[in-house]
Amino acid sequence: MNNSQKLVISGGRKIEGELTVQGAKNSVLPLLSAAVLVHGESVLHNCPQLTDVDAACRILSGLGCRCVRSGGTITVNASSVSRSDIPDELMREMRSSIMFLGSILGRTGRCRLSFPGGCELGARPIDLHLSALKQMGAVITEEHGILDVSAPQGLKGARITLSFPSVGATENILLAAVTARGTTELHNAAREPEICDIADFLIKCGARISGAGSGVIYIEGVERLYPSEYSVMPDRIAAGTYLCCAAATGGELLLSGCRTENMTAFLSVLESMGCRGYAYGGGKLYFSRKRKLIAPPTIRTMPYPGFPTDIQAPIMSVTTLAEGTSVFVETIFDNRYRHVPELVRLGASIKAEGRVAVVEGVKRLTGAKLCAHELRGGAALITAALAAEGISEITGLNYIDRGYDGIEAVLRQAGADIKRVNV
Ligand code: EPZ
Repeated sequence: MNNSQKLVISGGRKIEGELTVQGAKNSVLPLLSAAVLVHGESVLHNCPQLTDVDAACRILSGLGCRCVRSGGTITVNASSVSRSDIPDELMREMRSSIMFLGSILGRTGRCRLSFPGGCELGARPIDLHLSALKQMGAVITEEHGILDVSAPQGLKGARITLSFPSVGATENILLAAVTARGTTELHNAAREPEICDIADFLIKCGARISGAGSGVIYIEGVERLYPSEYSVMPDRIAAGTYLCCAAATGGELLLSGCRTENMTAFLSVLESMGCRGYAYGGGKLYFSRKRKLIAPPTIRTMPYPGFPTDIQAPIMSVTTLAEGTSVFVETIFDNRYRHVPELVRLGASIKAEGRVAVVEGVKRLTGAKLCAHELRGGAALITAALAAEGISEITGLNYIDRGYDGIEAVLRQAGADIKRVNV
């Protein structure tokens, strides 16, 4: 449905007002996977309405779980898991389906799935996931792109060191280790806040985990996990995206339901550009840009707590209007500048070569027809179109709807002239 639609934006209006931040996409997806391990009914609150979440629910149903959504709450009944395979079309629909591998293997001792194809961000290898699971006793065969993973003697704890702090690999290892025999020590683990969210949920279900959020996580396997209720953490990337919209248009926002302690890396960059952020208690953040934008120091994307790769594209849109030269180094993904040619169509001055992009600030952007090629690049196009003079049209909403819950309604509420129309 949504790839036959487009957004029509009449730019030049300030983004200002109050917004409540949606639940985190990159937490609710691994939480839905973790529910496979629970013998009974898991209740997850604050789940955003996203196409990736719908796809995850279809995977759960395919496994024999009952998945029911009521507003922001998703209830997953995994009392009986009757299958251990993920259909190819669902693996292709959502690359992060790979994070079901650890939970299906932990629950059933078996898992068959197709290699999650490369995606809009370049190759997306899963070597770190597979080598860790092998260390835990998994037997893995791969034929014609189908992975067949089994643990005939069950999974056992292991001492694992990741060569790169991969978020997905850390999550799969957590999910496989919580009901494995013995203790797993995971070194060079990802430290993203979403890892803590998954660990907190699993601990509520009876898992024994310590060190989540640090580089070393200890997991002591337990017999079973028990039903619990949990509320998904706020989406720091969606929050950061809306701050970029306010920064690009010279507006101001009062965000509710956000955890500013998870947002410091990109908040400090926005502040170096002339914005101001004031964190109040109870998850409120006041943010404004009253002065002209100036180029920030070099932005190098890094694993958490460094600058998040998912904010690279939206903040690049802000730098297109900042006085001076901005330099980006994308160290996480090898193809994450696909929004650059689209921003140039708006009049931005950007040169991207390999992992480096250089932005020369311009006085103004002017509306154009744009196409999103991936989720956060699509958000960058919206950010820039809001600041451009005149009308812009953006297609490729199937990408944007994967990660932003009702983005046009959220922005309209903050003063944007934006509407979704059928093509
Ligand atoms: C998660 O992806 C997020 N997705 C991404 O968000 C996010 O950009 C990324 O972490 C980094 O923070 C979800 O949580 C669903 P990685 P993931 O494994 O787990 C390489 C968004 O826009 N790598 O940390 O896939 C990999 O190729 C999405 O919301 C290996 O080489 O990220 C990449 O270059 C995009 N081998 C780098 O590590 C492996 O086995 C980071 O990947 C695994 C990863």
